[in-house]
Amino acid sequence: MKILIAEDQNISREMLVKMLANIGQIEAFATGLEALKAFEDAFDKSDPFQIMISDISMPVMSGFELLKAVRASENKKKIDKQNRIKILMFTSYADKDTIVSCYRAGCDDYAVKPFNKKVIIEKIKKFGFTIDETTELNQSDETKQTEKTMGQMVSDAIEGFKKGKVDLPALPHIVQELQDLISSPNASVTDMAKIIENDTAISIKLIIAANSPFYGGVEKTKDVKMAINRLGLDVTQSIVAAIANKGLYETKNPSIKKLMEKIWMHSFATAHCAREIAKKVSSMGYEKAYVKGLIHDVGATLLIKNIGENATEKTDIDINELINAVFEVHASFGAFLLNKWNFGKDFVSVASLHEWNKYGDKTEREILIVNLADILSYKIGYGFFSKDVGELSDIQSANMLELTDTDLKIIYEKAEKAVIESSGAFAKI
Ligand SMILES: [Fe+2]
Ligand SMILES: [Fe+2]
Repeated sequence: MKILIAEDQNISREMLVKMLANIGQIEAFATGLEALKAFEDAFDKSDPFQIMISDISMPVMSGFELLKAVRASENKKKIDKQNRIKILMFTSYADKDTIVSCYRAGCDDYAVKPFNKKVIIEKIKKFGFTIDETTELNQSDETKQTEKTMGQMVSDAIEGFKKGKVDLPALPHIVQELQDLISSPNASVTDMAKIIENDTAISIKLIIAANSPFYGGVEKTKDVKMAINRLGLDVTQSIVAAIANKGLYETKNPSIKKLMEKIWMHSFATAHCAREIAKKVSSMGYEKAYVKGLIHDVGATLLIKNIGENATEKTDIDINELINAVFEVHASFGAFLLNKWNFGKDFVSVASLHEWNKYGDKTEREILIVNLADILSYKIGYGFFSKDVGELSDIQSANMLELTDTDLKIIYEKAEKAVIESSGAFAKI
């Protein structure tokens, strides 16, 4: 059996290939265009694919366009219905609505991410293919068990949030309120102080941060207003966003504590990189870029925290498997969360698109900034997914922002310094 895979995310694609390696002959591609070419080539060589598994949301040529192109090509070739390639589409919660259009365009079935081996095998069997039971069980039972459980755990966690069974932390509210305030031309220190003072815990933490060596001045800051006066509206907003966010990374479960700290440092470093990039490429909006960097991986943060805290002692959490399973869905889940929290569209699209690697001309600059900031944070040692960063000159977002290797080096060195110096201001918070 020949299986064609189209999935733009490297980690997800590799995982899928590994998962299906003993089921058939796999060819996997990062773009719809390459997959379409492979489909045509195989047909020309009279060795066609029987199954195609495609992600829906991919840049340049989406899974939906690929699906339409494949069916159109089959029509042209006058291939009868039972000999057509079976198409299984994968989607995430963010674009579940596209499923209806996919069915109309001729897909045979769909499934929701994360990829789950058992689900894929069931779907393939439903298509009428036989899978050798021994092949199916080839993996050691132990690995299979973890794989199933982890995929299931991620799905359950998403479902829990979606159905309101798990409470969303309320703290990002203040971040949004300040964001709104700052974008109005009449924003004043008094207005900002009013919003912050509503939250005593955050007020105290802001004063502590304002007096830390990194932000501290000669005179000791005694109240919120004084802190804002000294730091300025923009910087205060960033600090409050960092304080409000940091709570998301706290956990009682010791087995994920280190990982949560790592994600916090990753987010913090991405925020600093985003700020430095914004300073270089635009004349304003540095602090907005900072906040976007800070929350870009909020989907991963809440999923890992939830799964970690709900795991019973019997469930042995394999951190790497957890990270890989979460990676596939964290962008769309982050977009879902920010939407729920009523963040603006620009925040939602940063969460949903920051991991893409093929951007178009119309991509908003802030998405490019956060994508690049995320990559640079890996470069300075604050990564947490098993991502291969590669050469600076190959980063598409950097090229689109017209940043040279030297620019990037200056940016990440500045960001690295700022991370080291300012993380102390949040350490005790
Ligand atoms: Fe991410
Ligand atoms: Fe990230």
